[in-house]
Amino acid sequence: MKKSIYFVANWKMNGGLNSLKDLVKINKFLSKPNSFKIIVCPPILFTKFFATNLKKLKFSFGSQDVSVIDKDFGAYTGEVSSKMLIENRIQYVLVGHSERRTLGDTNQIIKHKLISALRNKVKVIFCFGENLNDKKNNLSLKVIKKQILSSVDKKLVSKNIIFAYEPIWSIGTGIVPEKEYLNYIFSNIKKILKEYLKLKNPEILYGGSVSSETINDLKKVNHLSGFLVGGASLKSSSFINLLKSYKYN
Ligand code: PGA
Repeated sequence: MKKSIYFVANWKMNGGLNSLKDLVKINKFLSKPNSFKIIVCPPILFTKFFATNLKKLKFSFGSQDVSVIDKDFGAYTGEVSSKMLIENRIQYVLVGHSERRTLGDTNQIIKHKLISALRNKVKVIFCFGENLNDKKNNLSLKVIKKQILSSVDKKLVSKNIIFAYEPIWSIGTGIVPEKEYLNYIFSNIKKILKEYLKLKNPEILYGGSVSSETINDLKKVNHLSGFLVGGASLKSSSFINLLKSYKYN
């Protein structure tokens, strides 16, 4: 059987109730046979509305964040627990996204979010990646290794973690790394995951300016299990175009 390819749609702070019409179109597109595994991460307050208004859901929902507090309930104003996510059929969560790191998520905070999500069987999409300075100074691998190993504990590793490499300098810029660079980074991520976390066949995604224009080169990268998509996931037309470009080109 052909391996499914992930496309994770990260809407960030975008969308609204009227985005339902985009999801209806995406759902319809996915009702034809395909090998895509689609996870849509809208702002979580819309998810219930979308899920109840879509018939025969062909994709999964994810959250863009989860509480750092590893408790199901409690006096933690503003927090949403992993238990609340799973009870609302939100099966995935993005953890470690660079935009959340910028807002204060440290490796330690990310580790706690991971612990909480996995305890409630919410699958984690663990994001990491270097910034432009790191890259210029040849520090990419060092930075990536530190991000992974300081947040993902050996004891925590399970099939429920999907790794997502997102070079910060590529997010929202339209610039994607050269294929050689990505092959080099991906084979080293694989090595790190195997050597330190004993993972033989980890799922590793790429994120950063993925679109119908860039997908052709990106899909040739070795060891790739799919993509994390921001801008191009916001409209059904660009997202479906992206899926079609992946499939047909
Ligand atoms: P982008 O965002 O596709 O708009 O570059 C990707 C992300 O932030 O996950």
